[in-house]
Amino acid sequence: MSTENTANLKKTVPQAEDFLPILGTDYVELYVGNAKQAAFYYQQAWGFQPVAYSGLESGSKDRVSYVLQQGKIRLVLTSPLQPGGEINAHIDKHGDGVKVVALWVEDARKSYEETTKRGAKSYFEPKEVRDENGHVVLSGIHTYGETVHVFVERKNYTGPFMPGYNEYKPHFQVKDVGLKYIDHMVGNVGWNEMNKWCEFYAKVMGFAQMVSFDDKDISTEYTALMSKVMSNGNGRIKFPINEPAEGKKKSQIEEYIDFYNGAGVQHIAVATDNIIETVTALRDRGVEFLYVPEAYYDDVLDRVGEIDEDLEPLKKLGVLIDRDDEGYLLQIFTKPVLDRPTMFFEIIQRKGAQSFGKGNFKALFEAIEREQNLRGTL
Ligand code: FE2
Repeated sequence: MSTENTANLKKTVPQAEDFLPILGTDYVELYVGNAKQAAFYYQQAWGFQPVAYSGLESGSKDRVSYVLQQGKIRLVLTSPLQPGGEINAHIDKHGDGVKVVALWVEDARKSYEETTKRGAKSYFEPKEVRDENGHVVLSGIHTYGETVHVFVERKNYTGPFMPGYNEYKPHFQVKDVGLKYIDHMVGNVGWNEMNKWCEFYAKVMGFAQMVSFDDKDISTEYTALMSKVMSNGNGRIKFPINEPAEGKKKSQIEEYIDFYNGAGVQHIAVATDNIIETVTALRDRGVEFLYVPEAYYDDVLDRVGEIDEDLEPLKKLGVLIDRDDEGYLLQIFTKPVLDRPTMFFEIIQRKGAQSFGKGNFKALFEAIEREQNLRGTL
């Protein structure tokens, strides 16, 4: 990210009107075809720990959910138990994908009121759910595509996750891989829709724009996209929004929109304090990452200056490096983790830098183009 963009970040974020104080991401829920096997994958390959379960045994007749956690990252994997209904329709249209980006708030009723009065479309009205561990207040609004935000107020709850969920303690246990929290979550939206959704986050949720990248920043010889990063007042929630841009060949965002059948979550960036250890563990367990040519490392230190890490292990793993005027960051991207070329993960380690790796965009998008080419979708 350029100095100009970083300056912009400092200037704009404190101006975000905080009528919607958000404590953090509460959970991310994916609707998937087979939650039992998806849960196994996220445990075995990603080192998520079992937390809670909802299904026939806990009185849920129509759906099953597995709740997994690593650091502050909570994943909920949900599948339908019956034909028909909204979960099947979601999977039919989008394949497996993120349905809910849940936000942890002090007051879920007020969050609903403040956002709906500013134009948010209701997903569901505030409701209180309780069991012997207390109560949780939930409310929900729609965002891009069929994705929703659920506001979660859990200050009066002590159970493993939420009423309706039992503790989930399989005999199968894995070691975590050092993932700490969600750094940012990126949405892909259709042609000319980026500004509309950035305005939604500004007006309806009180977010401010941190940075923007146009197709000159994010293009290769063949493909392009545009992106703006929206952040809430305390900076804990960062939602970059991408839209496709014209290029000689098909933008990766367009490929996503084609296969997801609309707007949706493109990637979840998860933070680690030691990217070499985390990525080594993930690779050993079978997670596949995008590959950058070795030539990337020939002059990378000329570009980013001195770093604490040895270059050799970063090169071996394919970790990318970028610097802004506050520090540097290390990042790497997985291949799509679903059958359709839609959602993927980013692993990020920040060493001061608050930006998003602009200096890596070209190398990264060329790597994505190589994958698109293999899929015949470039
Ligand atoms: Fe990212």
